[in-house]
Amino acid sequence: MLRISRRDLLRSGLALSASSLAARSAWARTAVLLGGDIPEDSATAVPAVAPREQLLFDFGWKFTFGHGSDPSRDLGFGFGQGDFSKTGEFEFAKAKFDDSKWRTLNLPHDWAVELPFVHDDEQKSHGYKPLGRRYPETSVGWYRREFEIPASDLGRRIWVEFDGAFRDVLVFVNGCFVGRNDNGYAPFRFDLTDFLAYGAKNYIVLRVDASFGDGWFYEGAGVYRHVWLTRTDAVHLGRWDSTVRSIVNGNSATLALATVVQNEGKQAASAKVNWKIVDAKGAIVATAEAPAKSIAVDGSATYTATAKLPNPALWSVDEPNLYSAIVTVESEGNVRDAERVTFGVRTAVFDAEKGFLLNGKPLKIQGTCNHQDHAGVGAALPDRLQWFRLAVLREMGCNAVRTSHNMPTPEWVDACDRMGMLMMCETRQMSSNAEGLQQLKGMVKRYRNSPSIIIWSIGNEEWLLQDAMAEEGAKIAASMVRRCHELDPTRVVSAAVNGDNEKGVSEALDIIGFNYNLKYPDPFHKKYPKRPLYGSETSSAISTRGEYATDPLRNTVSCYDGVVPWGETPEGWWGFYGTRDWEAGGFAWTGFDYRGEPTPYGWPSINSQFGIVDMCGFPKDYFYYYKAWWGKEPSLHLFPHWNWHGREGDEIPVWVYSNLDEVELLVNGKSLGSQKVPRLGHVEWNVKYEPGMIEARASKDGKVVLAEKQETTSPTVSIRLTADRTEINADGEDVAILKVEALDKEGRPVPTANNKIAFNVYGVGKLIGVGNGDPNCQESDKASKRSLFNGFAQVIIQSTKRPGEIHIEAVKDGWEGAELMSAMLLITTKQVEPRPSVPVVREL
Ligand code: GAL
Repeated sequence: MLRISRRDLLRSGLALSASSLAARSAWARTAVLLGGDIPEDSATAVPAVAPREQLLFDFGWKFTFGHGSDPSRDLGFGFGQGDFSKTGEFEFAKAKFDDSKWRTLNLPHDWAVELPFVHDDEQKSHGYKPLGRRYPETSVGWYRREFEIPASDLGRRIWVEFDGAFRDVLVFVNGCFVGRNDNGYAPFRFDLTDFLAYGAKNYIVLRVDASFGDGWFYEGAGVYRHVWLTRTDAVHLGRWDSTVRSIVNGNSATLALATVVQNEGKQAASAKVNWKIVDAKGAIVATAEAPAKSIAVDGSATYTATAKLPNPALWSVDEPNLYSAIVTVESEGNVRDAERVTFGVRTAVFDAEKGFLLNGKPLKIQGTCNHQDHAGVGAALPDRLQWFRLAVLREMGCNAVRTSHNMPTPEWVDACDRMGMLMMCETRQMSSNAEGLQQLKGMVKRYRNSPSIIIWSIGNEEWLLQDAMAEEGAKIAASMVRRCHELDPTRVVSAAVNGDNEKGVSEALDIIGFNYNLKYPDPFHKKYPKRPLYGSETSSAISTRGEYATDPLRNTVSCYDGVVPWGETPEGWWGFYGTRDWEAGGFAWTGFDYRGEPTPYGWPSINSQFGIVDMCGFPKDYFYYYKAWWGKEPSLHLFPHWNWHGREGDEIPVWVYSNLDEVELLVNGKSLGSQKVPRLGHVEWNVKYEPGMIEARASKDGKVVLAEKQETTSPTVSIRLTADRTEINADGEDVAILKVEALDKEGRPVPTANNKIAFNVYGVGKLIGVGNGDPNCQESDKASKRSLFNGFAQVIIQSTKRPGEIHIEAVKDGWEGAELMSAMLLITTKQVEPRPSVPVVREL
């Protein structure tokens, strides 16, 4: 292992302190926003409190591919008739099965992102990954894990809990089949109590089959969310049954508290419940108790109480104040179970005239729709990355996200609660069949205490249910809306509708969502003045970061005004939704680029271009339109870059996004005059190209407030590495997100650099993924090298559980030309108490 001291790095001039870099770009400013630590209890929406134990079950799994059509290559599974004929006969889930040749890995894990790309247009939506029934070798994965259960656990209830896995999961424990789950997003759990060996080793095996899909976008494959082993007393709280509903009344709030206790013990139990309401500082601000009830064996009882909260600190997007309710069950003088429910006190109302009101004040929903995958890691995001993504969106003034088109991870919801981001929370399947209602129920029960959620969405663009099957659509939607109201009477229910909003699905909705089609909302509002409206999906602007020409030969889309035929540029849609008081606002498609749907192109494009930021979170120019008109700070952005070698004398369009009054443009020091910035618009010039510098000066009330320039750079001579944080937790989960840039001899970022860079990682960390935001780049996300794309690449480094130093070196990779100064970055990992987890029998 190579050890490099911090002093050596400083001497080389390449170790840049986080603060010296902070001011240099919007991305770096985002890094500053991300500086704080994740609050301790952010792991799940309902964190465990003793005596309940919730152990992370992510570390030290074995993995191998099975086979989707040949049982002899699928551990013999399904070879004959009898697999499920007798309980206990699955040999692969017993001690003597040999998995020594299987690969060892940690969850979350997405095997799709590890696969090569295939040129098969049927796989376009899935980002050209070989998944599905025509790719049996790479569509079935087996996971196996040995774990110990202490003898003292006898008598407790023990569950394995999955936050979601893609897809069709069969779970086996100690030779027994314990259950299956058939969708890619909803959480599921199985009670293992009867199948476990106490005071002994146990074996769990998962068969995960991604042959079928749930969507039309990249969905990943495998156990891509967390897994937990939860242990409770036999008398325990029901799953996601604890609710805290606040009714705000003047300067105080009344909390309606409810929960369910289940008795899975051997005799009837008398149990009572108490609640402690704790504020952000940890002070107990209210208490409540529900008297004892007798609960029969295998029975359950509901408990309710109320508490008064004087002068509550309201939750809002600017001040996301949170409270916790500690719910405790006592029986015969002993605490039997407890959990902490995080909640916020706020009012959220949709009004047909005034739009959306948070705590009584109108607030425009400045939203983005997002899928869940990221560069380098696919659908398997470390928790920290969820925060990072939200912080990037918040940086441009986005205050709401739509979890299109599926139930989000708990970490995403939790981050929204803590950061003050509103959420439209969407289920995957629009159906009132058992599976559809089960998915919906899981979503609503799990997240109904989260203050960030303001809309439940029962689905997206079900064109048959909106039109040809409108009658069935109205009934299906009505059943789903009813189920939402029953589980959560406090929130409105909607759907993203791209057709007829007067029949079918829309008939049943509390608030009407319009996808695209700006010609519909005005007449609808006139005809139905009492129905609240918003843009459930808008824009679908497209652009390739750093590209200023739409070129079907290179599969690039211009950053000035790229948009699909059914969509609107940011100016187009926000000029509409941002100017009507009765419109609550809307959700742009999309915040981040995502894999699959490479519209308007096909191969070799492997990801979408809809993002306002790319797959890594690097802003495209549209980002700054939103920052100007959604953000609260004065803002200015000048583009394009000024490296147009060979185009001397050509007219180059120069655009400026700003929310200031007036902008003056200077070319090599000479003024081309000033222009007034139209509200919700931009200003532009045509400039004859000559190398040098363009500069925009933006003024308010006649005074220059901001200036920005673009300079012609010289070739790349060095690399710069910076991280969102230079100290992370040594917990085996935390990540540092590195930005890689090319610099010229004067230290200026080179916006056209596409050099290939190799990364060496030394010390107590590992590289878990790379990306560059290029929708046409087919280099592996899992390699230790990556080409820059128009000046940038991203590297994601994860800690181990050992505290110490991680040194990341970036060097040029096999290209000719000027010597390139390599870069070094030091990340330190600090000792922390890792989250309680199931001990690993075999270390990675
Ligand atoms: C919408 C759809 C999205 C995405 C988008 C692309 O109609 O809801 O999932 O496909 O089109 O423009």
